[in-house]
Amino acid sequence: MTKPLNVALIGQKFMGRAHSNALSQVSHFFDLPLKPVKHTVCGRDEKELKAFAARWGWQSYTTRWGELAENPEIALVDIGTPNDMHAEQAIAMLEAGKHVACEKPLAGTLADARAMHEAAKRRKKLKTFVWYNYRRVPALALAYRLIREGRLGRIYHVRAKYLQSWGGKDTPLLWRFQKKHAGSGAHGDLNAHIVDMARFLLGEEVAEIHGAVSKTFIEERRIPGQEKKGRSSVDDAVLFLASFKGGAVASFEATRLAAPHQNANSIEINGEKGALRFDFEDMNLLQFYDASHGLREGGWTRIMCTSAGNHPYAEAWWPDAHILGYEHGFTNMLADIVRVLCGRTPEVPLPDFADAYETQRVLEAALLAARNRCAIKLSEVE
Ligand SMILES: NC(=O)c1ccc[n+]([C@@H]2O[C@H](COP(=O)([O-])OP(=O)(O)OC[C@H]3O[C@@H](n4cnc5c(N)ncnc54)[C@H](O)[C@@H]3O)[C@@H](O)[C@H]2O)c1
Repeated sequence: MTKPLNVALIGQKFMGRAHSNALSQVSHFFDLPLKPVKHTVCGRDEKELKAFAARWGWQSYTTRWGELAENPEIALVDIGTPNDMHAEQAIAMLEAGKHVACEKPLAGTLADARAMHEAAKRRKKLKTFVWYNYRRVPALALAYRLIREGRLGRIYHVRAKYLQSWGGKDTPLLWRFQKKHAGSGAHGDLNAHIVDMARFLLGEEVAEIHGAVSKTFIEERRIPGQEKKGRSSVDDAVLFLASFKGGAVASFEATRLAAPHQNANSIEINGEKGALRFDFEDMNLLQFYDASHGLREGGWTRIMCTSAGNHPYAEAWWPDAHILGYEHGFTNMLADIVRVLCGRTPEVPLPDFADAYETQRVLEAALLAARNRCAIKLSEVE
């Protein structure tokens, strides 16, 4: 019989649903040596939590996350709370001997992220994971493999954008618009993903930020449940230019005020021998350009990344072109987390706290570049 892996989850809203779904689905679709068990879910609102636990099949629930650390039955704690909670919760769980999977960004501030990274280094036997889930979209996992196989040759240019539209003036003052909870706005929310994606795909670190602009357009928002307004203290848009250690230049753009875009998480990579482009709004497709075809016959090849044996994760799911969606990235990631916990190799590398700390340093460098109107070398950001 497959052994159980008792999991606790903190946070029961957006990511709470995405993670509960992955926990529910993973053993149906992947053959894994451990079966994740929905042991205890934690949130703040007891009434909502009770209904959530019943709906998603959690064995128990608590409004006190500290109880999870004390429970010897729990092996993995999954954190899906606002960014300012990540450090305290993750460090407590590591100190209590639990493996930790934490939502992105690693933290709201570089200081918190560093503390988490240090805590993980102190507990070497424990595994840490950060939910940069887009790495496990099959098209991006295939892009990773094509780059490793040298199909792009030397990489010259990366163009990454993450554009959404839900953050207009009528959106209330959620925790995501409060610096003390979120750390930053579109930057930590969206640039975090595309910085991780670019670092993952290139397999290289960013060397320098050459310039950045950060802008808050909406200064006040209605406080939820009240008539009065409060200060929106985060950026609404951050754009920056960077270069990688291998020499490639890159641009990153994030905003939640791009009216025609709902979740346009996209990246284009141009190299000596070819190019790749991806847009999450067409997430089953990877566009590949092979420069050896020349100008006469060359052009973008549209690859439907759903073919078992050809595309990462495809064998776990449906027949060709019976396409995947947002939630599959989380289930694919959970399958890889379980593999790593059993000493196996994930399909493509998983980000741990050390890896996500590097993304956090890039985010911090871009904010410094915007604030000081100057270039910032990553070596200046610890
Ligand atoms: N990987 C992704 O694509 C992705 C997408 C959305 C959000 N996120 C990240 O997930 C995290 C949560 O975001 P969300 O959109 O789910 O937020 P949310 O507001 O929908 O949910 C936050 C949850 O945390 C709980 N919570 C807050 N403080 C708590 C405490 N002290 N103890 C216990 N529970 C507490 C709330 O009750 C709520 O259930 C953030 O770090 C965010 O950046 C990642």
